[in-house]
Amino acid sequence: MLAEQQPILSVRDLRTYYHQDEGIVRAVDGASFDVYAGRTLGIVGESGCGKSVTARSILRIVEQNGRIESGSIHLRRRTSSGQVDEVELTALPANSREMRSIRGGEIALIFQEPMTSFSPYHTVGNQIIEAIRLHSDLSKRAARERAIDLLRMVGIPKPERRIDEYSFQLSGGLRQRVMIAMALSSDPKILIADEPTTALDVTTQAQILELLQRLQDEKGLAIILITHDMGVIAEMADDVVVMYLGRVVERGPVDTIFHAPKHPYTQALLRSIPSILARPRTKLATISGSIPHPYNRPVGCPFHTRCSEIIRGTCDSREPQLQPVGPDHQVSCFLYHS
Ligand SMILES: Nc1ncnc2c1ncn2[C@@H]1O[C@H](COP(=O)(O)OP(=O)(O)OP(=O)(O)O)[C@@H](O)[C@H]1O
Ligand code: SF4
Ligand SMILES: [Mg+2]
Repeated sequence: MLAEQQPILSVRDLRTYYHQDEGIVRAVDGASFDVYAGRTLGIVGESGCGKSVTARSILRIVEQNGRIESGSIHLRRRTSSGQVDEVELTALPANSREMRSIRGGEIALIFQEPMTSFSPYHTVGNQIIEAIRLHSDLSKRAARERAIDLLRMVGIPKPERRIDEYSFQLSGGLRQRVMIAMALSSDPKILIADEPTTALDVTTQAQILELLQRLQDEKGLAIILITHDMGVIAEMADDVVVMYLGRVVERGPVDTIFHAPKHPYTQALLRSIPSILARPRTKLATISGSIPHPYNRPVGCPFHTRCSEIIRGTCDSREPQLQPVGPDHQVSCFLYHS
């Protein structure tokens, strides 16, 4: 493992834009954060703020009409000789051999809808076995044994039998477990989980989050957990990145973000969590105003069209930058710096 203080992945000033006939969508527009082994980084924000495009950029699977315009993504890993080797992912061609071995190798992805990620024509076992053999030279028989072990590890009952079933025969919760097993097949160091529990009921959601936590404890995995749900962040994250319109507006340790949030957007997100103390059917606070259209980004602070604390003449003309406001805590807002 790397020295604990050294991030396994460092994203700096990442900008990923989509070029459309109608204009440019600045899906990610200057995102910076670090990811550490054994810790969970939560990326949170409303729909369309650039969470998934950030994940796609790290894995270099941005669609044809999109491009990483600038910034860097450094992956650090231990080589077999024990040296720390650093790779700049944005410098690798997306389809290069090295990038393909990192994608689904050191960095694995699980996402919201496991149904679409499995072929209905092959058993889940064969798909996991194929994934295992892609990243190892195990025989078919040994790969099958490993697949059964992986299914057991993610809590699939009777894995010797389940391995020969098709994805449509499994419940949503079991399918998500199988997807996690498949992601683990290459022994990744970083797991990116993009809304892994959004499609599941509350009980199954809790079980899947518990599973991710256990796997992290056992394997020292770094997890990037993408969600629009502050409740999931509270449960899982060690560090938090809050995104708005492609930008990181606040960043810090989870306790700081929950107990001393600085950015008006983070504060609004927190007000929108259902409280366990709230009376049933109490109306949930929502953030006023609507998210600006991606082709029509506001000049100045991206949040100024919805911010109740706007400083007129400043927030609507200049863009604030992410700056320190405490230990490991940064915010981009003119209320705290000029
Ligand atoms: N292939 C694409 N072509 C054009 N624009 C895209 C494409 N993919 C994403 N976008 C745009 O990029 C922005 C960020 O999208 P992204 O999918 O990262 O949002 P998100 O934060 O993951 O939202 P959600 O919570 O809904 O998943 C959005 O404005 C989206 O419309
Ligand atoms: S910079 Fe201004 S508009 Fe933006 S969040 Fe801070 S106070 Fe609100
Ligand atoms: Mg998304």
